[in-house]
Amino acid sequence: MINIIKLSDSEFATLVDFVYKGYGINLEKKRVLIEGRMASTLRDRQLSSYSEYLDILFSDKTGQEIIHFLNKITTNHTFFMREMEHFRFMKETALPLFEKNKRRKDLRIWSAGCSSGQEPYTIAMTLEDYFSGKSGMWNISILGTDISMDSLEKAKRAEYSEDMLKDVPQAWKDKYFQDLGNGSYRVSDRIRRNVTFRPLNLNEDFFFPRPFDIIFCRNVMIYFDNITRERLIDRFYKVTTDEGFLFVGHSEVVNRRATDFKYVMPAIYRKSGDQ
Ligand SMILES: C[S@@+](CC[C@H](N)C(=O)[O-])C[C@H]1O[C@@H](n2cnc3c(N)ncnc32)[C@H](O)[C@@H]1O
Repeated sequence: MINIIKLSDSEFATLVDFVYKGYGINLEKKRVLIEGRMASTLRDRQLSSYSEYLDILFSDKTGQEIIHFLNKITTNHTFFMREMEHFRFMKETALPLFEKNKRRKDLRIWSAGCSSGQEPYTIAMTLEDYFSGKSGMWNISILGTDISMDSLEKAKRAEYSEDMLKDVPQAWKDKYFQDLGNGSYRVSDRIRRNVTFRPLNLNEDFFFPRPFDIIFCRNVMIYFDNITRERLIDRFYKVTTDEGFLFVGHSEVVNRRATDFKYVMPAIYRKSGDQ
């Protein structure tokens, strides 16, 4: 049984302020969660108060400590085929549109807040399924980004246990996964070759040399307050192609008056153009 060290009011306020300013994550209602999830860290380092921990956090110039903290407190829950409506929409609406209208046969997709990779790999499988057997080669690149280094490591490893594949259709399991024989499966090379991962804090400015056709940012903005969310959506707008789409989680609110994205249907927005 781990002895749970409590945050004092001022330690808590300092921590909330630091994480909000740096990462846009609002921890105001997460006091108990922090105390619970950080208990083993404080115990392992033999610290007796959060003030000692904050000294370590603030004096760490390598950035490793904040990464450790964020790994502990963010929720990385994700799964294959999550919010299937997006993948259906991709297959039935977005991809046929791109196929018809894009002169350059290339597609760039960003999974922003990709956690352990199930989302970008579901995207890659949807694309592979759609384009295989069609004429002409499409150049496809899918970028997965997250602040959690633990999650990105898992995403790169691309190994998942059998129960994590429970929503994946059998035909996809056969085609796009390699059975490792120990109760786990690895995403096939064919799918992995189109997907790259890298760390990125969505609360910092980002720049990409070319815009994206679809941005998935699902179940990430739940951590952010309205201002941070609106600022982020605005920055997504700038890195989306004119015909491009933004997909958000179905439980996430986009203030339509605060964005130039056009509403298409629940959790789907488009930069411009008629459907
Ligand atoms: C609940 S998971 C969602 C994963 C996936 N998009 C899905 O819908 O299944 C949320 C992810 O957002 C990441 N995240 C939270 N704040 C972030 C930030 N400021 N920058 C980048 N990623 C962040 C977390 O590390 C976590 O992996």
